[in-house]
Amino acid sequence: MDWIKVAFAQELGNDEVKMVNVGGYGVALYRVEDEFFATDGMCTHGKALLAEGFVEDGCIECPLHQGRFDIRTGKAMCAPVTMDLRTHAVKREGDDIYVLSPVSQ
Ligand code: FES
Repeated sequence: MDWIKVAFAQELGNDEVKMVNVGGYGVALYRVEDEFFATDGMCTHGKALLAEGFVEDGCIECPLHQGRFDIRTGKAMCAPVTMDLRTHAVKREGDDIYVLSPVSQ
């Protein structure tokens, strides 16, 4: 598995999320309290992009039915979501943000 550069740190403010492409795989990249985190980009409940959701208190709220996930752990926090999100490792080198690719090369 490879580290893929996905963004510059300044592209995201605190409590913001954006969709990034990690080797053809859609990942939601978050900045919370000046740390970066990544989860699968798609909600586990339906076909909704979490990058279109709302970040608050370390959670992402799905834009479709308002299910919430913990951004750090991927844990499903409230109905209607019951299945946790997969999380992905993130590292920062200077201004560059990398995500460990979930796709074998
Ligand atoms: S699609 Fe995300 S909560 Fe339903």
